[in-house]
Amino acid sequence: MRRKLAAGNWKMNGTAAALAEIEALIAAHPAPAADILVCPPATLIHRAAKLAGGSAVAIGGQDCHAEASGAHTGDISAEMLRDAGASHVILGHSERRADHGERDEDVRAKARRAMESGLIAVICVGESLAEREAANTLDIIGGQLSGSVPDMATGENLVIAYEPIWAIGTGRVPTTDQIGEVHGFIRARLERRFGAGVGRSVRLLYGGSVKPGNAAGIFAVPDVDGALVGGASLKAEDFSPIIAALEAA
Ligand code: 13P
Repeated sequence: MRRKLAAGNWKMNGTAAALAEIEALIAAHPAPAADILVCPPATLIHRAAKLAGGSAVAIGGQDCHAEASGAHTGDISAEMLRDAGASHVILGHSERRADHGERDEDVRAKARRAMESGLIAVICVGESLAEREAANTLDIIGGQLSGSVPDMATGENLVIAYEPIWAIGTGRVPTTDQIGEVHGFIRARLERRFGAGVGRSVRLLYGGSVKPGNAAGIFAVPDVDGALVGGASLKAEDFSPIIAALEAA
């Protein structure tokens, strides 16, 4: 049985005042039937982790470097995230692939380091609109999976987030059939590469315009084990009903 996961990606949003949203989540979900993860900007990780210590809310980073330390101005290592109190890290988000030129091999190296450091890697994959319209979605996802996921992946250290780029921040959501097709494909690929035991234990999240109003329908799709939520994770009043929908799924 895979435990469901509701993950929030705050992206480059939030200053100290936003910690109140994490406090509100902790209060609203003292013993949730799903895991809850909030990935605030790096500047808030340590404070968020202190606040969430002993609660059901886990804290994660949004990126890490592939090396443990060194001359990499502006970067943060997996070890530093762990030291700050993070348990997870999002890797290979399409915004990092686009803004920072991250390739599959970069994501794979980061994921290896994250896993070696004891972090759970939430690796993102997803096609562009042009790729979907050219009927290349599964090829793209398959390539990203084999390129970005390291051989040391297990059900404990890996989560995959399927985030179609055209659904991120647009209010446009794939049909449940489209989500089901990609999640089923990812599951089959993981089982083929890692064996049925590991392949079936990795959690698969859907991400892209998940809102309180559409969450239950998305969570009813087979092989959807939760969501990676952007905009609607910034306010507890929006994220909380999404968590509740996942608990009820
Ligand atoms: P939105 O939920 O704002 O569409 O963002 C999705 C996302 O990119 C989460 O990583």
